[in-house]
Amino acid sequence: MATRKFRTPPQSLRGMRDILPQDQIYWEKVRQAFKKNAADFGFDRIDTPILEPLVLFDRTIGQGTDIVEKEMYSFITRGKEHVALRPEFTASIARSYIENGMNRLTKPVKLCSMGPLFRYERPQQGRYRQHHQVDFEAFGRADPLMDAQIILVAQQLLKKIGIHKRTRVLINSIGCLECRKPYLKSLGNFLKKEKVSLCPDCKKRSQKNPLRTLDCKVENCKKALKKAPKLVDALCEKCSGHFKQVLGYLDELGLKYDIDTSLVRGLDYYNRTVFEIVARDLKGNNKYALVGGGRYDGLIKLLGGKDTSGIGFGSGVERFITELKQNAKEKKIQISAGQPKPVHLVAFGEMGKKRSIKLLVDLLNASIKTTESFGRDSIKAQLKAADRSGAKFALIIGQKEALDQTVIVRNMEVGSQEIVPLEKLIKHLKKMLKKKN
Ligand code: HAM
Repeated sequence: MATRKFRTPPQSLRGMRDILPQDQIYWEKVRQAFKKNAADFGFDRIDTPILEPLVLFDRTIGQGTDIVEKEMYSFITRGKEHVALRPEFTASIARSYIENGMNRLTKPVKLCSMGPLFRYERPQQGRYRQHHQVDFEAFGRADPLMDAQIILVAQQLLKKIGIHKRTRVLINSIGCLECRKPYLKSLGNFLKKEKVSLCPDCKKRSQKNPLRTLDCKVENCKKALKKAPKLVDALCEKCSGHFKQVLGYLDELGLKYDIDTSLVRGLDYYNRTVFEIVARDLKGNNKYALVGGGRYDGLIKLLGGKDTSGIGFGSGVERFITELKQNAKEKKIQISAGQPKPVHLVAFGEMGKKRSIKLLVDLLNASIKTTESFGRDSIKAQLKAADRSGAKFALIIGQKEALDQTVIVRNMEVGSQEIVPLEKLIKHLKKMLKKKN
């Protein structure tokens, strides 16, 4: 049966993007930095499913948050399970921590992950519906030193990628449930008085999740909320002591930060330390958060596990790559895809092509890195491709060479050529390449 042809070719969904071959070098740089950072600070890799039970996010990120209210990709399966594409890593990793009995391990249990996340947001620069995060989580250490260490891990990740220079660490404490109770009352009273000047979203937030009004980006709200009572001034003794110690450790590390009393973060599971590392533009204005994280000491218990503290951060890979490209443009540098392969195969004519496919396998088996351009017919085009690939030698095989069991070895630097018997080729090439190095 003939299928009906598309009138217009299908396109990727809004807010979702392909990672094209030319961008893979940037992604590889981030992957390498992620791996190195994990090894340096002793974090083990964990990979959790992309699809999770919907309740996992509903109850941890919190009803009344933007992610749960408006941004979840959720649906009911054929088996009538309510599921969601994960919008973040923390809840999934916490679920896995409990499910796999990681509580028995020596604390802190340090885990990290990298992968795609889904949020039905309004797509714009640096905000996608499918984005990727590099995520680090540490369970079982309530010590303020762990907070400082996590911020250091985030900062070192940016340093390894090479995008730390125009960034700033913003930090705040949102206390614990106890010190938040009286604070929320006074914030509620303040918001009631300011209601007329708030945006429609903040009017709703002031009922459901008043803390979120504090980091609203609408100018009028920002202005009105400047006079709002500050949570950091309402912290209980223990939370205030914890915050001071975190700042003390950061000072000791020489890690610069700004205390931002409007920073509350958009997820309900946080307590005490919250932080972001923001990228700044050339004028020093904040562009967007590269990193967002904080402490979540009640999360494991909320999910039915043993009372266990936790802290971590997530960071946006797409934003890293925007910064990397910007840096490369400003410094007029090229991020290289590594060493070019030293040998390029050029084949023409039916017999030449047949022989060179077999030769390609022999070269690769002999660990001689080789590229080829078999699809192109003219030798000129293939030699151009050899030149562009940066290869030191081009191996040319046509009808005559195939019949004679020989190969023309062309030195791409000087343009000289020699005929080498096929059976001696690998030994010959290895010798020549050793000489070149
Ligand atoms: P988050 O602030 O929602 O936190 O996301 C962390 C980072 O992911 C952001 O700072 C940003 O760089 C990137 N990001 C978030 N949404 C998007 C998007 N739509 N498009 C592009 N990039 C995005 C969390 O997800 C928490 N789970 C972080 C955490 C880990 N807290 C403790 N542990």
